[in-house]
Amino acid sequence: MAISWHYNRPVLAKNITQQLTSGLFNRLAYLGQRRIGKTMFLLKDLTPSLVKANCIPVYISMWSNKNAPHKEIINKLQMAIQQVGKKGVLASVLTAEITKLKALGITAEFGKLDPVVASDDDLIIIGNLLRQLVSGVANKRVILLIDEIQHLITAKEFSPLQYMLRTILDELNESIGVVYTGSSRRGIEAMFNNKDMPFYNSANQVAFPHLGDEYVAHINGMLKNHFDLSYSTVKLNVYFNSINQSAFWFDRLAQYLALNQTSLRDGCRAIDEMMQLETQYDSTIDVLTTIQQGVLVRVSDNLSRYDEKAIELYQKLGVKKPNRSQIQSAFKSLVSKRLITKVADTIFIEESGIAEFIKKKYGV
Ligand SMILES: Nc1ncnc2c1ncn2[C@@H]1O[C@H](COP(=O)(O)OP(=O)(O)O)[C@@H](O)[C@H]1O
Ligand SMILES: [Mg+2]
Repeated sequence: MAISWHYNRPVLAKNITQQLTSGLFNRLAYLGQRRIGKTMFLLKDLTPSLVKANCIPVYISMWSNKNAPHKEIINKLQMAIQQVGKKGVLASVLTAEITKLKALGITAEFGKLDPVVASDDDLIIIGNLLRQLVSGVANKRVILLIDEIQHLITAKEFSPLQYMLRTILDELNESIGVVYTGSSRRGIEAMFNNKDMPFYNSANQVAFPHLGDEYVAHINGMLKNHFDLSYSTVKLNVYFNSINQSAFWFDRLAQYLALNQTSLRDGCRAIDEMMQLETQYDSTIDVLTTIQQGVLVRVSDNLSRYDEKAIELYQKLGVKKPNRSQIQSAFKSLVSKRLITKVADTIFIEESGIAEFIKKKYGV
């Protein structure tokens, strides 16, 4: 059998399960940066714990179908309704979900989006499916696990879906539980703390607890037991903290060490290189025009896109005669590429590293 690197967090899973079944907290929103293990926790720890507690967890990622998240919702609710009462189905659904995630690998998280508006029929179907699911399982509690919820504020096309979800969840009230996760702090804040937004005040927000020493010790133990490799736990911890507790990169380190049997120092260097390659943002920037790059820099610095200094910057980047409509359309396409999110009157940059990278590249 393949060895599992996954470090289980039964205590955290149990706590959240208790909160969700106590009747005190029906909606929890966990936020934390990307790649710290939120999704894996939902799928591998929380789901089994919820099942044990007589709940029906339904995992739905807003990133599964980025252009039409409502379709994924319909799909998952239909599957859940079919599954209810059948044994063993849940396990296979989870395996499929994890395989899908692994296959995505380092995905282009900032691709171009062609968002679709959910039709009235689709929205009615979602409402009916939710009611049907909840009422069909009298003695069990349905818990929706909605991953990457902030995706719903990245396009105005998703607004009707947001309103509809808010309404139906209010209607079902305590007969359903929801765990949201989000990987954009600003996005989540905008979504739940802005009174013009449909999800305003609809969940208790919690910071997702990062993995820590015990996870590092677990990985070190795996390297020892399966590969007879000995590394200093202290040094591994130092490295884990230096990469902001990213389980994603730390797992890559463990794989690298297992495969190459090198010193820890060489392993860390290799991972640092991989991380650097990824944060060079070359491929992201390649698809941006120079004016788009300039506008991104101005927005990221919280400065005007139209004043003299802005025009100066665009010219430095090589735009001959930057004009207002060019700047406007550059802004729009940054939004559609999801590098920028606009919520009410506030503009959010999803990855500030990109603007820094542009500045370095052009020496501006
Ligand atoms: N508990 C864990 N034990 C071992 N590795 C983990 C754990 N959680 C996450 N990982 C590793 O980190 C990667 C990213 O985790 P993921 O859950 O997708 O992060 P997030 O959802 O926060 O972006 C996983 O593919 C896995 O390699
Ligand atoms: Mg995730």
